[in-house]
Amino acid sequence: MSAPDFVVAGSPIWLGPLDQTLLPWIETHRTAYSALFLLADAKAVPAGQAALQALAQRESNLHPCRLDLSPSPTYQPGDAEASKTLAVCERVWKAMVDAQLDRRALVLVLGGGVLGDLGGFCAATYKRGIDFVQIPTTLLAMTDAALGGKVGINFHDIKNVLGAFRQPAAVFADPAFLNTLHPRELRSGLAEVVKHAYIGSPELLQELQENHHLLKAPEEASAETWNRLLRRSIAVKARIVSEDPLEGGLRALLNFGHTFGHGLESYFLSIGKPITHGEAIAMGMLCELDDPTPADVALLRLLLPPAPLAQAPWLRVWERMQHDKKNEHRQIIAATPGDAPFALRKTALSPQEAQRRWQRCLRLLGELQ
Ligand code: GLY
Repeated sequence: MSAPDFVVAGSPIWLGPLDQTLLPWIETHRTAYSALFLLADAKAVPAGQAALQALAQRESNLHPCRLDLSPSPTYQPGDAEASKTLAVCERVWKAMVDAQLDRRALVLVLGGGVLGDLGGFCAATYKRGIDFVQIPTTLLAMTDAALGGKVGINFHDIKNVLGAFRQPAAVFADPAFLNTLHPRELRSGLAEVVKHAYIGSPELLQELQENHHLLKAPEEASAETWNRLLRRSIAVKARIVSEDPLEGGLRALLNFGHTFGHGLESYFLSIGKPITHGEAIAMGMLCELDDPTPADVALLRLLLPPAPLAQAPWLRVWERMQHDKKNEHRQIIAATPGDAPFALRKTALSPQEAQRRWQRCLRLLGELQ
């Protein structure tokens, strides 16, 4: 098989059709593993059907475990986040035990960011950790969530508060899955692409600023466009995670937008009206930039949720920001891009400063006079 397109902290990443990447990789590595456990998001399975059938035909010791993370007929992008819970982990751990997986089993996780985080967490904790492979099926997971070894779940309305670092044995991102996504889901992933552009790629930022159509109608993007964007975006993440896999310093830069963003995302999740992760961090980036320019506002507003953000009571968002993992000595810290690509700047946010930024953003968006 071909060489990986990227290596992130020792973990190889391939971009391309699963029959040319995942299947040959399994063939090469199969003898190292005692069994395969396929944890798949039911919604993503049809688009991966051909590769999964080929796998099932070749493999006698394959244990499928299908989860429906969004069973409601009125499903909206963002809803799956409500499944990133201990209760769903329990179902997966139970299926692993029932399948009698030993420590040499391999878990294949096929799904978006929620399933990747949860499935990786289940693998990282089962019998003190077994290998897993990520097969991301959303733009958000391909460009961010499936890469870099952060796995975890939400707990008591707090985003990603339980988790671990464990690098996947490999990642196989097939952009063909993108053709099946809702535009709102594509925009959620584009928010992470935009984040990578701000923190490490002025060329990518320029491309996005000159091509608002892509953010307005991402479902019209060509395969060539997705390929180029994914490569540029993943390159930024790969460099940062390879330099600082356990987030001792620089990796905090990948949390740009997430201090306010996680507060907002958790708030909307807690009231049963989830917004997407990307929508939350787009607002987060707007709040965390010291001095957003008209170009920043024009770009980031294209990624915001359909419902007005002013309806979120500030104190309830602020409450949730207290749990951010970057906080030090009870101080709320936002990680923002410095003066050059890959430069990290940390800003301590007092309650007054955070509220000032929130109101500034609402004013910039015309939601507050
Ligand atoms: N998604 C942020 C990180 O991987 O560090």
